[in-house]
Amino acid sequence: MKELRKAEKTQFQDTIWNYYEKHGRKMPWRGEEDPYKVLVSEIMLQQTQVARVTLKYAEFLKKFPTLGSLAKASLSDVLKVWQGLGYNRRARFLHEFAKEVVKNHKGKVPSDYEILLTLPGIGKGTAGSLSAFAFNLPVAFIETNIRRVYIHHFFKDKESVADAEILPIVEATVDEVNPQEWYYALMDYGVHLKGKVKNPNQRSKHYAKQSKFEGSNREVRGGIIKELTVVGGQSLVTLRKKLKFDAKRFDTALKGLIKEGFVIQKGTSITLV
Ligand code: ADE
Repeated sequence: MKELRKAEKTQFQDTIWNYYEKHGRKMPWRGEEDPYKVLVSEIMLQQTQVARVTLKYAEFLKKFPTLGSLAKASLSDVLKVWQGLGYNRRARFLHEFAKEVVKNHKGKVPSDYEILLTLPGIGKGTAGSLSAFAFNLPVAFIETNIRRVYIHHFFKDKESVADAEILPIVEATVDEVNPQEWYYALMDYGVHLKGKVKNPNQRSKHYAKQSKFEGSNREVRGGIIKELTVVGGQSLVTLRKKLKFDAKRFDTALKGLIKEGFVIQKGTSITLV
């Protein structure tokens, strides 16, 4: 592990805090301490831009103001509100999370990192962001903006930087007093760097270019789910005709959705679960 000198740590922290003081962004979920609301925002932000999430976040919470109300809803009602965000799996994870917390945790989101990891849809990144943002705990976690900051600052000339190398430095530099704001600051600085330097994340060992939406299986899956949530169940023939995708792509996507339990086929009729 790279040794971090005290001066280096202080200088780094000052850079991040100074930037945040002048340019820190306000967002509806920042400062929020209801773990349910924080989770909704974090899941939405995983693959969707802030501007889009801001609108959906309000709409989603209006419809499902509490974890209990989400747990009671049907998946198809959850998917209905989710339309426009894409990656419908995230909506289902959120729904399963709510049901599981009601069933096994008395309706209260656990603050323990290890317990969070056992819940539906929660990986290390989300367990970390929830711990920091909802519970103000000085955990270490990495997401794309945070990764960019650390590679830029601490791995200037290195190629193929693994998250496992970055994580100890994240841990060593986290603000112990105010981890919640520290991570907002890191993320904002990471976004700032994006426009300033050649994307440091290209030197991440885990770098993967975002795949194109058009022509992807995700596009067809999204089209099917949207049609079934907005218009409702219909016959296979009608659905196929309306969506106008290549027949093979349509069949592959539909098969996947049925297999994963999003969609049910009864005879020739197709509906959401
Ligand atoms: N603020 C809180 N969570 C965030 C996230 N995931 N991305 C950007 N800003 C945030």
